[in-house]
Amino acid sequence: MSQWWTRAVFYQVYPRSFADSNGDGVGDLDGIADRLDYLADLGVQALWLNPVMVSPMADHGYDVADPRDVDPLFGDLDALDRLIAAAHARDIKVTMDLVPNHTSSAHPWFTEALADPSRRDRYIFRDGVGDRPPNNWLSVFGGPAWTRVPDGQWYLHLFDSAQPDLNWDNPEVFDDIEKTLRFWLDRGVDGFRIDVAHGMAKSPDLPDMALTETGLLRSRADDPRFDNDDVHEIHRFIRRVLDDYPEAVTVGEIWVHGNEQFAKYLRSDELHLGFSFRLVQADFDAEEIRAAIDNGLAAAALAGAAPTWTLSNHDVPREVTRYGGGARGVARARAMALVMLALPGSVFIYNGSELGLPDADLPDEVLQDPVWERSGRTERGRDGARVPMPWSGTEPPFGFSSSPDTWLPIPADWAPLTVERQLADPDSVLALYRRAIGLRAGRTEFDGDDIDWIGATTFRLPGGLICALNAGTTPVALPAGEVLLVSGPLVGGKLAPDTAAWLV
Ligand code: NOJ
Repeated sequence: MSQWWTRAVFYQVYPRSFADSNGDGVGDLDGIADRLDYLADLGVQALWLNPVMVSPMADHGYDVADPRDVDPLFGDLDALDRLIAAAHARDIKVTMDLVPNHTSSAHPWFTEALADPSRRDRYIFRDGVGDRPPNNWLSVFGGPAWTRVPDGQWYLHLFDSAQPDLNWDNPEVFDDIEKTLRFWLDRGVDGFRIDVAHGMAKSPDLPDMALTETGLLRSRADDPRFDNDDVHEIHRFIRRVLDDYPEAVTVGEIWVHGNEQFAKYLRSDELHLGFSFRLVQADFDAEEIRAAIDNGLAAAALAGAAPTWTLSNHDVPREVTRYGGGARGVARARAMALVMLALPGSVFIYNGSELGLPDADLPDEVLQDPVWERSGRTERGRDGARVPMPWSGTEPPFGFSSSPDTWLPIPADWAPLTVERQLADPDSVLALYRRAIGLRAGRTEFDGDDIDWIGATTFRLPGGLICALNAGTTPVALPAGEVLLVSGPLVGGKLAPDTAAWLV
């Protein structure tokens, strides 16, 4: 019997933006618990919660000051226990983010390190070269990856200066992560999404990097900041702990070059799953989509792991916007939802994808992502994809909160996109997602670990399901078979451009 995570629909909850139960304008754990029936009706098997641990929120929770407690903004440990119990009662697993590459600068370890230079070994402190930092590394968020402290030393932060990188050569760091893993697993958490899973080990002598393009999605194969071999020892350590909890899963955020490098993270004593970001990077283009699918399948096969698929997450523009926005963006996102949900393996749906939300156009003064300031206000960052969910009603905050003052403003023109409106419309994006997830879970035609291409962007599963995508500009004939589901209207019995169909 294969493990549950080899064929699951995960739903990514960005807790700040899902549902606010206490009227402070920020989503929270009780808000998620209140909406579990919505998620059960959508048909998802597992949640991935972005970080809810204690944090000053310099990077919205990816700067953790206490890895074994819940931030009051989101509730408390009791609220988490309630959420886990209520989710489990609906057969929904709960996985959380784990952030092992760095802590917050407000973590007691870092406070101690600043006060006492002899206590710096849990982080990466170095002397500079004259007045310059120890090397030329750049932060993924822009600017130098080093910040100088008053006594003249520098500390490394691959992300914001409020996120100092941990020194994984220090055994105390291992002991602490074990405590954190067991703390949450013992509370009933079903696993972890591991942040920057390719980042924890640094190239020993900290050599200069080649100064080309950097960014969250881009790093070179020879980038000394990432994908150093010692990282695998850390994953083996984490796995030894996880093996005490055989129903729990780890899924790594792994941005590396090439399938061989990727597969190393999924060896039988390392991570269970790794995110494939190829569909996130592909344009709505027949060749790119097919290459992304082939690559995702090949990488997983090489690793002997289940493939994973996602169209977006909290770090990238939403798919509707990536595919051109407007009606065409929505049509393409609907088509790609059917493509993704037909594929073997596990699928990750980012909250709001099931509503066809676009990125919001936000004014400068509300932007909060550290990328905005660190890039010298040249990159707007990721806030546009993180706007709160519209639930009901005709004006902001659309039932997300009782406060009109939500942490990011919700566009007034999202009124037609609310859950309430979409539940009443059989042709809505939400209705399509619900039908598609239900069919995927319930029909044997979706069985099988591989696909056969029977046309440029048409594939068949071993169970018999055919998924046909028209990424071209003119209608195409449908393959033979009974149509189970289409993402948009047929034109004279043909599959319209920007449309996909499932047939059996
Ligand atoms: C990846 C996370 O997905 C992103 O949101 C975060 O900013 C960085 N890691 C740093 O933790």
